[in-house]
Amino acid sequence: MDLDTRFPAVSDLRARARRRIPHFVFEYLDSATGREDQHGRNQSALSDIQFWPAILEGEPTADLSTSFLGRDYPLPFGCAPVGMSGIMWPGAEKLLAAACSKAGVPYCMSTVATVVPETLAPHIGDQGWFQLYMPKDKEIRLDMCRRAKAAGFHSLILTVDVPLESRRERQRRANLTIPPKVNAAMVWSMMTHPEWTLGTLREGIPSLKFCEDYAKDMEATSVAHAGHVIRGNPSWDDIAWMREHWDGPLLVKGVQKPEDAKTLVGLGVDAIWVSNHSGRQFDGGPASITCLPDIRAAVPETPIVFDSGVTGGLDILRALALGADFVMMGRAFHYAVGALGAKGPGHLIHILEQDMRSCMGQIGATKLSDLRERLVR
Ligand code: LAC
Repeated sequence: MDLDTRFPAVSDLRARARRRIPHFVFEYLDSATGREDQHGRNQSALSDIQFWPAILEGEPTADLSTSFLGRDYPLPFGCAPVGMSGIMWPGAEKLLAAACSKAGVPYCMSTVATVVPETLAPHIGDQGWFQLYMPKDKEIRLDMCRRAKAAGFHSLILTVDVPLESRRERQRRANLTIPPKVNAAMVWSMMTHPEWTLGTLREGIPSLKFCEDYAKDMEATSVAHAGHVIRGNPSWDDIAWMREHWDGPLLVKGVQKPEDAKTLVGLGVDAIWVSNHSGRQFDGGPASITCLPDIRAAVPETPIVFDSGVTGGLDILRALALGADFVMMGRAFHYAVGALGAKGPGHLIHILEQDMRSCMGQIGATKLSDLRERLVR
């Protein structure tokens, strides 16, 4: 099978993943909250950003490499944290970590993964970032960070845009719980998706393993509850506290306002992660990309990561042109692993890279830092 012919775009991977993953699982991955207006805005606002094409500039060759927080990367993008990753495809976290490590790009493990950091240690190489939903209990926080660091995760991402659970109506309709509460529709769905089902039986029924290790100390009534219970309601003081207790790169994810970015930099955060959780938390806010230029201007010296709405290499170029230093994608990597299993993430990285090279040629940009001046203003 020629992957380049059959799956030349993220949309092809999504379409195949949708066929191969049971509906109640796919809805968790694919959905946002409310009418999903913000999710749409994320994508349409990116589409509106244009570059001037170049002519008569000789043969274009693009250098896509970059450095970020003291490390060199061949490509300026990686895999964002996604909760319950391993339910989307059996062994997804391991497959994604290994593919990212092979490509030399970051893989960010979620607190609410279906594996513990130690499981990923043999796969992650030097590419591990760890995302933390800060639990209230500081001992638990420290222990989670200690274990992630010992397993090789060098950068800590604090997600701060989940003050409480959002409604996610599509997820409710699909009725996914952890562990799955099996009903007739689910049994039918599992029977009609045998590859997913057999793989899942082989890997073991997915649960929030990292949270479970601590939930027993926290009077969680069920594992379903673990992800919820483990989230504290962090405040600005918690950022300062984490800064004191984590000596590696510290990033804060879910920033949309320039004044918040400034405050975070004042607290010693190393990088700002501009994101609206891909429309999964609130339907009434601005597109993530429209927040980026003002944040860039507010913290001109601080590295910025961007996510939300990115569906191809051209979107990556758009975010970089507007001031991001690095771009992360969650859904796309999971569509890829759902569509093609172990081959998926590598193929996604390949098509994103090809798309970036092709577009940079059209734009006449040879380095990522050229992109800004090619924007249509
Ligand atoms: C989500 C959480 C787990 O968006 O980050 O589903």
